[in-house]
Amino acid sequence: MNWRKLRVFVLTVLVLCLIPATRYYQIDVPLMRYLKGSRTVDPLSLHLAGEFVENNLGTEQGADGSVTVRMIAQQYLFVPHCILVPAGVPVHLRITSADAVHSLAFNGTIYNVKVLPGTISEARLQFSSPGEFKTVCREFCGAGHYAMRSALKVVPRDQFPVLRSGERGNCEAR
Ligand code: CUA
Repeated sequence: MNWRKLRVFVLTVLVLCLIPATRYYQIDVPLMRYLKGSRTVDPLSLHLAGEFVENNLGTEQGADGSVTVRMIAQQYLFVPHCILVPAGVPVHLRITSADAVHSLAFNGTIYNVKVLPGTISEARLQFSSPGEFKTVCREFCGAGHYAMRSALKVVPRDQFPVLRSGERGNCEAR
């Protein structure tokens, strides 16, 4: 066997193993940024311009029925405070931090998303049945860490409000 070929082969395998590993740990590496487009955002101007301005936060429904949730984690709360999603539908979560490192977890589920300032964290969520989950912060982020709590409400698909374009869903029923 040609040693040079073997070396190239081993290196290729190592690199290929590295890609899913970085996804698993949700580490923002330059390679993923290159592959998925820029995921950086300025934490100091979140509320002024861009994707995470206040009226863009919450649950959004695309024309094709896809559901996207945008949130901000900050000391010591999640915005919006309560999010509403339909059951049985894939939910695309996009979240960033305005200050420290946080970790968004929905109690009783497998989901746990690390949130860093300057970066958009993404996750695919799906909830099979309706229910209410406590949203908690699992990364020590300061004095108010243990009070950093909010809620996630999963409602049956037919009870999820039909959102007009530009409208955002939240827990206050219309
Ligand atoms: Cu945010 Cu702990």
